[in-house]
Amino acid sequence: MADIEDERFDFVVVANRLPVDRITTHDGSPSWKTSPGGLVTALEPVMRANDGAWIGWTGTADDDQDAFETGGLHLVPVRLSASEIELYYEGFSNDTIWPLYHDVIAQPTYSRRFWEAYVEVNRKFAEAAAAIAADAGTVWVQDYQLQLVPRMLRELRPDLVIGFFNHIPFPAYGLFSQLPWRREIVEGLLGADLIGFQRRADAGNFLRAVRRLFHVPTGHGRVELPAAGEGRWPNSMSDQPRTVVARHFPISIDARSYVELVERQDVRDRAAQIRHDLGNPSTIMLGVDRLDYTKGIRHRFAAYAELLAEGKLDVDDTVLVQIASPSRERVETYKALRDEIELTVGRVNGEYGTIAHSAINYLHHGYPREEMVALFLAADVMLVTALRDGMNLVAKEYVATRADDDGVLVLSEFAGAADELKQALLVNPHDIEGLKRAMLTAVHMSRQERRTRMRALRHRVLTHDVERWSKDFLDALAQLRPTESAKAAAAAE
Ligand code: G6P
Repeated sequence: MADIEDERFDFVVVANRLPVDRITTHDGSPSWKTSPGGLVTALEPVMRANDGAWIGWTGTADDDQDAFETGGLHLVPVRLSASEIELYYEGFSNDTIWPLYHDVIAQPTYSRRFWEAYVEVNRKFAEAAAAIAADAGTVWVQDYQLQLVPRMLRELRPDLVIGFFNHIPFPAYGLFSQLPWRREIVEGLLGADLIGFQRRADAGNFLRAVRRLFHVPTGHGRVELPAAGEGRWPNSMSDQPRTVVARHFPISIDARSYVELVERQDVRDRAAQIRHDLGNPSTIMLGVDRLDYTKGIRHRFAAYAELLAEGKLDVDDTVLVQIASPSRERVETYKALRDEIELTVGRVNGEYGTIAHSAINYLHHGYPREEMVALFLAADVMLVTALRDGMNLVAKEYVATRADDDGVLVLSEFAGAADELKQALLVNPHDIEGLKRAMLTAVHMSRQERRTRMRALRHRVLTHDVERWSKDFLDALAQLRPTESAKAAAAAE
């Protein structure tokens, strides 16, 4: 095989993180394990079929890891220094864009130092992609950490076909316009041929930002960009007018792998064990989230505590299990959230718990997928109460797991998943009374209604899995590839 350093790839994925975790094997030597995310599962077959490579950060500061292969994937690390992690990842990505794009639930920090680092690191990713993409290859850039890459890459490599997918919401212009670098971000994204969003509304917000900032026409999800220097489109992106398509492609999960896990006897036994360990309550409610202020964990706890206070739920036969996996722990807002959530858990348990039963069973850990599936199977009611969420894959994971057509999903209308999972109990998590009503409806729902709703939900998730998502996106991108005759005509002009 050719040295990976010299290889060129027809299909390149660019994401902040590589889809692997560093592990230590039994004999103590370091190795890599593919992370269980849906994205890599969906893209693995595409990468194998198309000679693909994945560019991303290993998750460790100052990591000099060379390009390598694991599990048949070509992985190309981008080295980030401790200061770049602080300013680009914790700073601009997670303390500016993340809160801004989630409707300013937390106050974004607008720091010029963060911005400068974001530009520099985006350039590193763009250069890495430009160096390994084959002639006229396809590059698919992922998510809000890398919004400048499409334009930078187009300037370096005009021959490439470039896609971008935004995994988080795109805010309304009234909020987006706060960003001091709003023009640069939109110009960065417009370097792509196809820009994918989770919801129709996100694509609409983006197109409105394009119209407001650049006064270019955007009918039917197509942005018609004039040639460079014309009108209010002053950059050097292209000598020719270009069309950029922006539309929604709701992401999903690898649903089959969940179905396979539920079929395993050890996973079912574990679900029964969890119920038993919790004291065989009549109702187990479950929340599973990264510990993030967008997830509405506080609202969920408030509604649950009020139901206990009013005697409508009782800790002797109900428990709320909250898995909150550690996330972005060096960012101040996340530190403050952890303190607040843990204080609330202590208060609610102190107030309503008994020697035998806690009101909230709170776990600040991540768990392997087998354990998550066992928890989903054990849970009668799944609470997804996000204040804003691009999609929320946990909602889809719960549904895929419930092959028994049982369980009730309470789902925030502010999660992208609400556009598809209409047979869930949809809630506005800010409306605590409404949330309480939905929780009680879930607890008391008849078996027949649970079955009818879950069947419809499962049909949607099983027929719209992550493989279909990536195929839809890549098919749409392939259609935008200029034909030979169009290239010849452009060259002749
Ligand atoms: C969200 C983002 C992803 C990100 C993930 C975990 O789902 O859309 O891009 O990778 O959160 O966050 P982290 O900061 O740990 O990568």
